[in-house]
Amino acid sequence: MDKTAVYPGSFDPITNGHLDLLDRGMKIFDRIIIAVAANPAPSPFFTLKERVEMVRFSLRDHPQRHRLDVDSFQGLLVDYMRKVKSNAILRGLRAVSDFEYEFQMALMNRKLSEEIETVYFMTGMRWIYINSRIIKEVVASGGCVTGLVPEIVERSLAKRFSPSAGKPL
Ligand code: PNS
Repeated sequence: MDKTAVYPGSFDPITNGHLDLLDRGMKIFDRIIIAVAANPAPSPFFTLKERVEMVRFSLRDHPQRHRLDVDSFQGLLVDYMRKVKSNAILRGLRAVSDFEYEFQMALMNRKLSEEIETVYFMTGMRWIYINSRIIKEVVASGGCVTGLVPEIVERSLAKRFSPSAGKPL
């Protein structure tokens, strides 16, 4: 039977660290659903539509695209997991700082649904220092993130933060 995992997140926006984790997950799972949270906290910079589109676009040429689904969800992750009939949550761990947040989330999800397990993969060393927040921070202050995010994300960020556009939308 095919084993499906759900990779949930804000993906605000997707980074090369997320893509790296996806590749690691693909070695273990037959199918992965990238589930973009509709209303993550804090409120996202990009709209749900934009975040989903950037994920889709970033994966368009992925050699394993047929084993990847892109979806969004609202409300509790465990409810979404039941809906798509998966019991494996895929998440990434970078440094020690991620641990407390991930631990809390995994235990809460376990409390909400005993049959669901969270599986962690270590992010590739190249991406250990990046996350969506720091990417946005750098671009907002005029820095370059080439090579750290998919091109579509770089373009979207540039558009939103470009001096001619004035303030970010
Ligand atoms: O990329 P993020 O922001 O670290 O992802 C966090 C996310 C969206 C996976 C998490 O906040 C989540 O699952 N939200 C849905 C609401 C939920 O189920 N909360 C209880 C478990 S923490």
